[in-house]
Amino acid sequence: MTEIARGLEGVNVTTTKLCRIDGQKGELVYAGYNIYDLAEHSTFEEVAFLLWNQRLPNAEELAALKAELVAERELSPLVNTVLREIWAEVRPMRTLEVAVEIIGAEDRKSSDLSNAQLKKTAARLTAKMATVIAMYDRLRHGKEPVAPRADLNHAANFLWMLTGEEPTELAKRTFDVALILHAEHEMNASTFSAMVTASTLSDMYSAIASAIGTLKGPLHGGANEAVYKVLEEIKTPDQIKAHVDALTARGERVMGIGHRIYKTTDPRANILEKLGHKVAETSPDRHYFDLSLKLRDYLAEKLQGKPLYPNVDFFSASVYKMLGIPSDLYTPIFALARITGWTAHLLEQYADNRLVRPNAVYQGEENKTYQPVATR
Ligand code: ACO
Repeated sequence: MTEIARGLEGVNVTTTKLCRIDGQKGELVYAGYNIYDLAEHSTFEEVAFLLWNQRLPNAEELAALKAELVAERELSPLVNTVLREIWAEVRPMRTLEVAVEIIGAEDRKSSDLSNAQLKKTAARLTAKMATVIAMYDRLRHGKEPVAPRADLNHAANFLWMLTGEEPTELAKRTFDVALILHAEHEMNASTFSAMVTASTLSDMYSAIASAIGTLKGPLHGGANEAVYKVLEEIKTPDQIKAHVDALTARGERVMGIGHRIYKTTDPRANILEKLGHKVAETSPDRHYFDLSLKLRDYLAEKLQGKPLYPNVDFFSASVYKMLGIPSDLYTPIFALARITGWTAHLLEQYADNRLVRPNAVYQGEENKTYQPVATR
């Protein structure tokens, strides 16, 4: 019997210098650096450089990357016009997909797949995707977009463009760390999707649009918004047991729990939980964070003996809520971070490409006689 690798589980499709995960130990390493160290000491810009170059930048290189990102924040008149046309009808992840394809359509060098040009595209998309999402959110709330500020780093500038208010130091740093945590995760579904598109030598913009479409699903990046919905439904701690028991009795999954690779707590969930405690100290909106902690405890009891633990999405929902971010932006924010990992994998893919084209085992009928439509 031919073996089928359903969901490609356990299949190695390529090599990478970007990320190593040990799902048993709960270890996550970006290009040699442990995620706990990066979350403690680095910034999103440093991590972007690390992923694109497999080394940390010196001061001059970091300043150059920051300046490049700042210079790429503005959107073209065409992207502006399209966003103003579509915001009422189109949800945020699809908006991002559309915007990425338009940014690509306007780039005359989109088919230049040289490493130098691809790195420029990676920085351009990283900068502009943040502006797209902030502008989209402003428009749908009947507000004018807020111009980016050159004196703010990527994380702080996004919060600024979203709210038009100076974020607190704690909010800036929390969001910066959230971006670091979501920046890269080896060969997940959306990264693979980008890889498949790039393997046909289609351009980086189309590969990223593919990745955004894949991230959207609730079994992947969409889980953070799904976690928020669960918290909304549960409402109060006394409802946790009844809600979870009913959900599992129906055979449904608890969002934010479980992972294809991690068979222990996702280290990113640990870091977000720790940050959550800090933010909660001063947040007037800590209810869902406290509810998440209680939900986590009940799930640990209920799922005892099963390798099902909180993943990155479990705490991102309540931490973003405390930062005042609307729940349907959680998955787009994932994309704003993961654009760095996606593009880093694409740099590797274009440098050593092979068309991705697996097989499917045919199980249909054979030797049928064609009947003209009138006789069917
Ligand atoms: N709640 C309840 N049971 C679960 C869950 C869950 N969240 N996840 C897995 N299980 C159970 C399955 O029902 C299955 O049980 P069985 O063996 O008795 O049939 C067992 O655990 C193994 O599940 P699989 O589906 O084989 O595991 P897989 O590796 O495909 O699942 C996935 C990984 C899709 C992430 C899954 O855990 C899930 O659906 N989680 C909820 C969605 C989620 O949080 N996604 C975000 C993942 S992180 C990210 O993408 C950023």
